[in-house]
Amino acid sequence: MYPLRALCLLCAVIPVNAFDEFRFASYYGDHMVLQKAPERAVLWGYASDGSKVFVILEGQQGNKKQAAYVQNGMWRLTLDPVNAGGPYNVTAVQQGPAHAQVTLTDVLFGDVWLCGGQSNMAFTLSQVFNASEELSLAPKFPQVRIFMAALEMSDQALTDLPRVEVPWSVPSAELLGGKEFTYFSAVCWLFGRNLYETLGYPVGLVESCWGGTPVEAWSSPRALQKCSLEEQEDNSNYTRPLLGVVWSNSVLWNAMIHPLLNMTIQGAIWYQGESSQWGLLWVEPWL
Ligand SMILES: *[C@@H]1O[C@H](CO)[C@@H](O)[C@H](O)[C@H]1NC(C)=O
Ligand SMILES: *[C@@H]1O[C@H](CO)[C@@H](O)[C@H](O)[C@H]1NC(C)=O
Ligand SMILES: *[C@@H]1O[C@H](CO)[C@@H](O)[C@H](O)[C@H]1NC(C)=O
Ligand SMILES: *[C@@H]1O[C@H](CO)[C@@H](O)[C@H](O)[C@H]1NC(C)=O
Repeated sequence: MYPLRALCLLCAVIPVNAFDEFRFASYYGDHMVLQKAPERAVLWGYASDGSKVFVILEGQQGNKKQAAYVQNGMWRLTLDPVNAGGPYNVTAVQQGPAHAQVTLTDVLFGDVWLCGGQSNMAFTLSQVFNASEELSLAPKFPQVRIFMAALEMSDQALTDLPRVEVPWSVPSAELLGGKEFTYFSAVCWLFGRNLYETLGYPVGLVESCWGGTPVEAWSSPRALQKCSLEEQEDNSNYTRPLLGVVWSNSVLWNAMIHPLLNMTIQGAIWYQGESSQWGLLWVEPWL
């Protein structure tokens, strides 16, 4: 009894994050798409300071090994350019006393696109009028991979996503046909599928959107300043209530966009919409 009790006391005292867990950041995973050449995909994750980390890219053309840079409990490297194709296994190895390794399997190289905005983008494939026909086509596009960030807000700009709603996945009718305004975005999917049919190489789709949100919540403090909106906040603590949620400036930028800045992407499509116009109507009486 006694030793067990001592052990449990120890468990309670030491916070979980004191054990530096060796892993990839939240938005790396099996079945993912990394940005192809000529861009260079960034890989990063968490490691013990002082350890040596390297990454092995294992594919049909052989293996490639690259060293990562470790600082502040994080490792990071920029891959040499890789042409479109795959699959690859990507293994990150932490050398030394805390030896550990993590492998991502079935990784493709292609174009990665971020799909953001509000309900126009959140509108799901299961909501389009010929949904069942569209959903039944999903298995024909195994090289279009999907990922979705979870809905989160933060007062601080975050380094990693707090939560993932849909980890990198090969599309299926079930995954694409979620509940209304959940996943997967009709516009994002149809855009990616069309790109794939045109380009003929893998496409990765990253959905990060939230219905009914004003564009100020998605904007960085720097962007707001450029639009002279930040001053407005200083004067009146400019927030917008909708469905009981207060959308302060930059809260969605902080939690759902800023963390993705270290993901190498080809581009972003943004489908904002009515909320910002409604927003203007709401503030008009005070202008
Ligand atoms: C990746 O690893 C899996 C499991 O070990 C293996 O079956 C597969 O052949 C590997 N793929 C490549 C491209 O090396
Ligand atoms: C669904 O409807 C749209 C608009 O009419 C059409 O372009 C598309 O081909 C249809 N999709 C399928 C799978 O039938
Ligand atoms: C991107 O990575 C660099 C180097 O690890 C880090 O300093 C920076 O904070 C990261 N940026 C974001 C937005 O997480
Ligand atoms: C603005 O509103 C937020 C959210 O209600 C609150 O946390 C913050 O303290 C307010 N800031 C100022 C300067 O009043």
